[in-house]
Amino acid sequence: MIWKLETNNTAYVIGVNQAGYLLNLHWGARLPDYPSPSESEGYASFNGAGQILPEEYPTYGMGLNYTEPCLKATFSDGVRGVALQFDSAQQTDNTLTLTLKDTHYPLTVKLHYQIYAEQDIIARHVTLINTGDTPITLERAWTARWHFPPGDSYYLHHLTGRWNDEWVHHRERLTNGVKILESRRITTSHHHNPYFAVERGDATETHGEVWFGALAWSGNWKIAAEVTEFQSTRVSIGLNDWDFAWVLEPGETFTSPIAYAGYTQQGLGAASRCLHDLIRKHILPHSDLTRKVLYNSWETTLFDVDEESQKRYAEIAAEIGCELFVMDDGWFHGRNNDTSGLGDWWADSVKFPNGLTPLIEHVNQLGMDFGLWLEPEMVNPNSELYRAHPDWVIHFATRQRTPARNQLILNMARPDVQAYLIEKIDRLLTEHNIRFIKWDMNRNVSEPGWQDAPRDQRELWVRYVHGVYHVWETLKNNHPQVIWQSCSGGGGRADLGILRLADQIWISDNTEPTRRLAMQANFSRIFPPNTMEAWVTDMGEQTIPLAFRFHVSMCGVLGVGANISRWTDAQKAEAAHWINEYKRVRHIIQQGDVFQLYQQDGYYATQYLSQDQRNGVLFAFRTYRPEPTTPLVIRLQGLSPDHTYTINGVSHSGAYWMTIGMTIQLHNFGSIMWDIHQV
Ligand code: DGJ
Repeated sequence: MIWKLETNNTAYVIGVNQAGYLLNLHWGARLPDYPSPSESEGYASFNGAGQILPEEYPTYGMGLNYTEPCLKATFSDGVRGVALQFDSAQQTDNTLTLTLKDTHYPLTVKLHYQIYAEQDIIARHVTLINTGDTPITLERAWTARWHFPPGDSYYLHHLTGRWNDEWVHHRERLTNGVKILESRRITTSHHHNPYFAVERGDATETHGEVWFGALAWSGNWKIAAEVTEFQSTRVSIGLNDWDFAWVLEPGETFTSPIAYAGYTQQGLGAASRCLHDLIRKHILPHSDLTRKVLYNSWETTLFDVDEESQKRYAEIAAEIGCELFVMDDGWFHGRNNDTSGLGDWWADSVKFPNGLTPLIEHVNQLGMDFGLWLEPEMVNPNSELYRAHPDWVIHFATRQRTPARNQLILNMARPDVQAYLIEKIDRLLTEHNIRFIKWDMNRNVSEPGWQDAPRDQRELWVRYVHGVYHVWETLKNNHPQVIWQSCSGGGGRADLGILRLADQIWISDNTEPTRRLAMQANFSRIFPPNTMEAWVTDMGEQTIPLAFRFHVSMCGVLGVGANISRWTDAQKAEAAHWINEYKRVRHIIQQGDVFQLYQQDGYYATQYLSQDQRNGVLFAFRTYRPEPTTPLVIRLQGLSPDHTYTINGVSHSGAYWMTIGMTIQLHNFGSIMWDIHQV
């Protein structure tokens, strides 16, 4: 038995061999024919067939197989081996479901596949069903294993970081053993992102085979990249099994998060564009909506907000052309610094004696939408909410609760916590004309206890995320006009799961423009520019020109977070000019294809091109390079070779721009923004 999943340019082929192993037979280019399932008797008395064959969804405990399993479970009699046998298949044009059943126990496993033909991407998830009458405890329930062609060695690309320093790109050779990337922090985390790209060591931005993927999950996750002693390389992806358990009661189904993965022969840039296209067309809620230019005073005022001062910032923001005014932290009950207030989601009566409405109306009269900051999952011990419900936080009953930024985490798995948040935020959104919410999360978990959990306390890891999704989704459905930003102290919650709810991502609290350039390029390996919020602020060397700051932020969803009350008339006029320029080209930036042309030795260049290849925008930057130096030479990408394009007053064929390219002279902290027009 063989099943083929074909996208426009790729094929994913699965089969069952005579011994009953479900195997991956091919993942790569579409071919006229594909390999048949192979057999194996193992190797010596030390390795069974499972150790050698490319199993599609291996389980723990059966045969001499010591590679990473995707599924580990304990049945009620204590048996810990899962033996799956192929049962049936259902295939449509775009989907395949393979049903496997345990040979002895009442456990059904369904492997679900969905084809995104245009994006050359396949989505996978699993459902696990207890068809018996005693509970089954799941200890690992990964989403998918992806195999690469055997016999070769591979390089892994991944992204790491920490607060204020996210989106660092790594490329490393995979050698025998298991390389783990993961989050144990109850959220996606700044530290690793659930994304991988794998290549043979010869892929560039524009050339070479690349296999890539990402998990749509905003909690603990794990990627295991394994090379076996039989030169087989595979990547498994799913929920983290660190401290994980899930009790599958009789009749219940457990559904894993979705993993998306694809293949291209056109290098790392093409892999990113496949993901961008998938996210824009199939994941983002308001993907077609033009992202507005926002103003946010956080970096200037911190918690010091009130009606009068925010009105003044709003007036200047409107004057320079902002379209959305967001009030950040500091606006709610008792919030004068980070020691109090979280959880009490109503306007502070000292700062806003007449509530939020006068400010919102003022902002609306200035022609802007109004947005607000929230941190729903958090509570300060110094708050009315905590005083009323100290048991609502994640904690171990007999242990100290470790505060971070003076706050504790609400147990989002609890229905009463979910109901409280839905009620409070729903009221805010119903009573006010709020069009944008920045949903923040400013710490990671500690003491991960849930004393009165209905089942195993370790279900917290998954149920917490389900709780976040439930609250967010309920509010989103009740208030479809709201645009949501996912923020977690910057880029701590950026993943394809949250992008089913959030429209935009705050990628880092680090807004220093030269550092941002690499961050933005690396963030763009996964996420499209219409999700990437980028503000012009005062951070960094004051000698960095305003134009440079704007050009950096124009590469995504432009915002302003600088102290605009100190800007001179000339600075305001310049800001207004760049905001206008952004509005002129933002449809290309937000919806077009992105090409990372250059990222080396202080030079950066990024090109945006409309899907019809007719119009584009080119940005180039020089950060700091000591003299003597050479100019930046770049070759464009993605143009139609036979058409003529005009760039900065010069016309050449697309082929010329892509082969000969152009030389750009820039001084330190110089930048350019040039239109690309097909003649
Ligand atoms: C962290 C965010 O990343 C900042 O932009 C700001 O919203 C602060 N939190 C507010 O506390």
